[in-house]
Amino acid sequence: MAPVKDEILHALAAVSGPDGTPLPATGKLSEIVANDGKVFFSISVDAAAVKEWESVRARAEAAIRALPGVTSVMVALTAERAGSAGRRVPERRPQMAAGAARPHGGGAPAPAGIPGVAAIIAVASGKGGVGKSTVAVNLALALRDLGLKVGILDADIYGPSMPKLLAIREKPRSAGGTRLHPIMRHGIAVMSIGFLVEEETPMIWRGPMVMSALTQMLREVKWGTLDVIVVDMPPGTGDAQLTMAQQVPLKGAVIVSTPQDLALIDARRGIAMFRRVNVPVLGIVENMSTFICPHCGTRSDIFGHGGARQEAQRLGVPFLGEVPLDIAIREKSDAGEPVVVAQPDGVHAQGFRAIAARVREGMAADSRPAPKIVVEA
Ligand SMILES: Nc1ncnc2c1ncn2[C@@H]1O[C@H](COP(=O)(O)OP(=O)(O)OP(=O)(O)O)[C@@H](O)[C@H]1O
Ligand SMILES: [Mg+2]
Repeated sequence: MAPVKDEILHALAAVSGPDGTPLPATGKLSEIVANDGKVFFSISVDAAAVKEWESVRARAEAAIRALPGVTSVMVALTAERAGSAGRRVPERRPQMAAGAARPHGGGAPAPAGIPGVAAIIAVASGKGGVGKSTVAVNLALALRDLGLKVGILDADIYGPSMPKLLAIREKPRSAGGTRLHPIMRHGIAVMSIGFLVEEETPMIWRGPMVMSALTQMLREVKWGTLDVIVVDMPPGTGDAQLTMAQQVPLKGAVIVSTPQDLALIDARRGIAMFRRVNVPVLGIVENMSTFICPHCGTRSDIFGHGGARQEAQRLGVPFLGEVPLDIAIREKSDAGEPVVVAQPDGVHAQGFRAIAARVREGMAADSRPAPKIVVEA
């Protein structure tokens, strides 16, 4: 039987904070998410006190792991400080501040890289539902086809997609201590919060919890030696995405847009966001481009066509390619076999490999030209 919240709180009462107060009485615990043996919560402390709380976090995690029925546990330590506008903003955990590699926005040092991982790229869009997750997973598989060792991190904490897109039902195995093994699927290493929390669980996360879960998935997962991790970002260009873009050591970003104006406005915001934090934009993918009727073969441009290519030109970023709107792409995704795996010799797989080749080129470019236009969202 999986433990209920009372049992969890009881176990946590045996863990004391740095001043000896039982953890539940410190007022630092978040809401506890306990679902079918999977437990997640965070401890929010002052930025200055992070070091002394790290061992408390570890003891709390151990105490919960020892409970019968617990299959996985994630305890995040989040540090907060008051923002300039009185808003609470997440603080980088101390071990992340080391090893600055390139200047980041706001004068903050760049987050440290992940040992063994050569590059991390984000797949993002301003708008929801334009096919980021679809593009991210097929791009990851296409990069694999080019001979790269690839990982995929599902950073959509609110609506994880990878368990479904890759038909992953199992849970990640522990790699000892607080670390987890990613799940291997089709030759790529996969991590998603969806492996730890049920798909149907409505997830209400506070900003720092989101960051903490994300950095844990990046840094406390044994990714091994990889050429690239593709990060499937949640939709939007708000504070959460901006912070993510800042806290994950990104080599570059791929922006997904449909061809129509509304999506392009959001794509522009996405580009502006990455530029603000000095993350190079590797280019734009036009998804749901031309529709080819499966019955009569007629082409129709449901959302228009070519808008993303023009926009890329206008903004001075590479255009990476088009992905047609094709029912096969959706069906294969829904069936847990992305089209690059399901139809490796098909036209879509070829298209994704062409996109992947351009992404690889962009990743290899050491210095990139200064942006022609700086757009403000
Ligand atoms: N090129 C395509 N052809 C047909 N269907 C597609 C295509 N791209 C995506 N879809 C479908 O559109 C839906 C949304 O795609 P997806 O989940 O990848 O978008 P998203 O941008 O990640 O969404 P969210 O913003 O919710 O994370 C899915 O059902 C997916 O299968
Ligand atoms: Mg998605």
